[in-house]
Amino acid sequence: MHTARPGARPAPALLLLLLWAGPGVPAAAAPPAPPLFNVSLDAAPELRWLPVLQHFDLDFLRSAMAHILGDKVPKWVHAVMRVAVGELEGSLPQPYADEIRGMCDVLGFSLADCILINLAYESTAFCTSIVAQDSKGHIYHGRNLDYPFGDFLRKMTVDVQFLKNGQVAFTGTTFIGYVGLWTGQSPYKFTISGDERDKGWWWENAIAAFFQRHSPISWLIRTTLSESENFEAAVDKLAKTPLIADVYYIVGGVSPREGVVITRNRRGPADIWPLDPLNGAWFRVETNYDHWKPAPARDDRSFTVYTTVMSAANPDKYMTRVRNLG
Ligand SMILES: *[C@@H]1O[C@H](CO)[C@@H](O)[C@H](O)[C@H]1NC(C)=O
Repeated sequence: MHTARPGARPAPALLLLLLWAGPGVPAAAAPPAPPLFNVSLDAAPELRWLPVLQHFDLDFLRSAMAHILGDKVPKWVHAVMRVAVGELEGSLPQPYADEIRGMCDVLGFSLADCILINLAYESTAFCTSIVAQDSKGHIYHGRNLDYPFGDFLRKMTVDVQFLKNGQVAFTGTTFIGYVGLWTGQSPYKFTISGDERDKGWWWENAIAAFFQRHSPISWLIRTTLSESENFEAAVDKLAKTPLIADVYYIVGGVSPREGVVITRNRRGPADIWPLDPLNGAWFRVETNYDHWKPAPARDDRSFTVYTTVMSAANPDKYMTRVRNLG
């Protein structure tokens, strides 16, 4: 399909700029960077986010979280979760459960409610991701994250450097209170973004799978950034680990041809769509639809909350901009 002559090939930087084009954004507007924080994985999980929380208006966070809970989570899910979290508390996945518990205590929410807020974000992310290789073999990766509740989430967006032994182990972009990552980078190894793939009955399937110990989508991105040694190991983990919902994972590496879109079912991979630069496929674009099917005429995309551009071989260039900030 993409059989442009090499001479006609636009630079990947130009392709990534397309992410910036959007309704209501004057060309001259310079969107701001979100605040950058360090979170030390050497600190206890319950404590490690508290220094970040101090930079936020807690009443604002409480009202944002209450709004998301009330608007996005069906009533029956609240009831199931209250009972189940009480019974399973000791065996919830770590460090995520303890990190959530630590922030919840400060905010005065129950652990069940805070876990639900973390899951609620997973059900509503509409996105665009691009992975591309330039003529010199460099890999670039860009993403837009589009959500409802943008008015809250733009003020909650943060870039986070996760430290191990005082060094940056990996970087990600998230919303304060949300311990998973939809966007992140393991320096000199790989970058990952996630785009929602909605197959319906989201809550029914996700809650059942969560209690069968399947991973939330954004927790697997963070675990992979934390643990996987290279691009290939990351792709393998992202393709095979059981999840609570379907998703698209987009992964960029550091060497030529290291770029892929993984279409996930909850239990395993549905499709693997790699870069194929020798045959003209020097980029892959994924939104929220299976790439082998036509996109529907009606598209759910809401206003973009943030845009991130990254390249694992140049980790200092990791860049997020908050979009459409009123
Ligand atoms: C985060 O930690 C790194 C590595 O220790 C350090 O160089 C940097 O100054 C810290 N940044 C912030 C924002 O605290």
